Amino acid sequence: MSESPAFSIQTRGLNLWYGDFQALKEVTVDIKHGRITSLIGPSGCGKTTLLRCFNRVNERYGYVTTKGEIRLLGKNIYDPDVSLIELRKSVGMVFQRPNPLPISVYENVVFGLRIHSPRSALKRPLLDEAVEKALTEVGLWDDLKDRLRHKATELQLEQQQKLCIARLLPLKPEIILMDEPCSALDVEGTRAIEELMFELKGRYTIVIVTHNMAQARRASDECIFMLLGELMEHTRTEDLFLNPKHPKTAEYIEGRYG
Ligand SMILES: Nc1ncnc2c1ncn2[C@@H]1O[C@H](COP(=O)(O)OP(=O)(O)OP(=O)(O)O)[C@@H](O)[C@H]1O
Ligand SMILES: [Mg+2]
Repeated sequence: MSESPAFSIQTRGLNLWYGDFQALKEVTVDIKHGRITSLIGPSGCGKTTLLRCFNRVNERYGYVTTKGEIRLLGKNIYDPDVSLIELRKSVGMVFQRPNPLPISVYENVVFGLRIHSPRSALKRPLLDEAVEKALTEVGLWDDLKDRLRHKATELQLEQQQKLCIARLLPLKPEIILMDEPCSALDVEGTRAIEELMFELKGRYTIVIVTHNMAQARRASDECIFMLLGELMEHTRTEDLFLNPKHPKTAEYIEGRYG
């Protein structure tokens, strides 16, 4: 785990069914370490489903079956010795609507630590340090350092979304998954989250689902275009937008369907 492989996430022939319905078909992809990769494609094409495979969250539905391989940092996440708790610590997730817990800013940031850490790691100075570090990393420390005891759900939406990213960081994730993280935010909030993604890139591998083509173009290094559960095209963002290989990609990015 200490080496730094070229790819954080690799799938081979990944298939997923919700009951009888096949939502992912033979998806083979290599997602680069430390980069921002966008998942794009029309509604229902399987973006969220693919994202949720990477931390095995789909499995909470009893009627989901998968076939194929997923490797995170070289390790098969379906191996029997893989701990789901460890997996979900190293693969954090952020959702469409900011979902901080209705407790204080401070307690939101240390929530994961309180669940996952031994008592010795929960001493007050260590928690204080973790809070300052995480809030600094997402650019919230100056704004919130005097409001750590305020209820997180009363913050502005942009701050709430940044806080949802901050609360992943004390668990030292390798990968951050973002499912349309800006769809509840205004233009300013969207820009702030994109700037934060740039700050975080390098230290973390970021995979973002977005319907916003301008955002995919601005914010990501690589783009994956999906259609009806299949991966149609995966390339550098610039190439995907300037020189799409697949006619369906071209039609989608031109806004002809979706
Ligand atoms: N929990 C579920 N149970 C059954 N079918 C599901 C479930 N979640 C998704 N699906 C189906 O799987 C397909 C892919 O859905 P998914 O949510 O992954 O698409 P998406 O690309 O994220 O779409 P959107 O852009 O609308 O968010 C869709 O046909 C959807 O109806
Ligand atoms: Mg979705």
